[in-house]
Amino acid sequence: MIKVGLIGCGYMGTMHANCYKNIDGVEIVALADIRRETAEKLAEGTDAVIYGDGHELIDNADVDIIDICLPTYIHAEYAMAAMEKVKYLFVEKPVALTEEQGAQMLAKAEETGTYVQIGQVIRFWDEYVKLAEIVASGKMGKFVNANFRRISPTPTWGWNDWLRKYDSRAVRHRICTFMIWTMFFRCLASRTV
Ligand SMILES: NC(=O)c1ccc[n+]([C@@H]2O[C@H](COP(=O)([O-])OP(=O)(O)OC[C@H]3O[C@@H](n4cnc5c(N)ncnc54)[C@H](O)[C@@H]3O)[C@@H](O)[C@H]2O)c1
Repeated sequence: MIKVGLIGCGYMGTMHANCYKNIDGVEIVALADIRRETAEKLAEGTDAVIYGDGHELIDNADVDIIDICLPTYIHAEYAMAAMEKVKYLFVEKPVALTEEQGAQMLAKAEETGTYVQIGQVIRFWDEYVKLAEIVASGKMGKFVNANFRRISPTPTWGWNDWLRKYDSRAVRHRICTFMIWTMFFRCLASRTV
């Protein structure tokens, strides 16, 4: 049995928990959320251990994989700590809030030999893969320019309104969170990732 520790039990944490339930041989044995009641709700009917802050789980839980579904601005802090403890780490996208944090995470992964997967799910979606193949094949001519529009409701769902707070960090959150797919597609189409 592969034992998972899930940190952050909000929107994506709940999504991940439901996915793990459908995978044979995998069990969430520990959950952490500073709003403990959200972790407790996800743990209902299981023996999973509940923690508050994610560091409590990282320091104490007996797990094979840690899955981080925290607000983006603390991905790096928790990912770096988790890489000291486990061999396998999943971190929601975007990787981090700054390039520097991303580089630090990469260096830590290399130093500790941790396998890290980022939740860039769209790269596996059939329609995007197909579109990228068509563009890369050149059948439609040279890829010169692309205009993208991300249609999304105002992000009001996050804990403590973290996605919407109007300081410079929050603006970066929104660019990272919502534009990452657009930028990613551009890279995929030109095969630079
Ligand atoms: N892959 C995708 O398509 C996709 C989609 C949506 C969101 N995301 C990413 O998932 C991540 C989480 O987003 P979300 O929408 O689930 O946010 P959310 O606000 O719904 O959930 C975050 C959770 O973290 C908890 N939390 C905050 N600080 C904590 C701490 N120190 N220790 C433990 N728990 C803590 C909060 O209580 C909350 O429950 C973000 O990085 C976001 O960009 C990815």
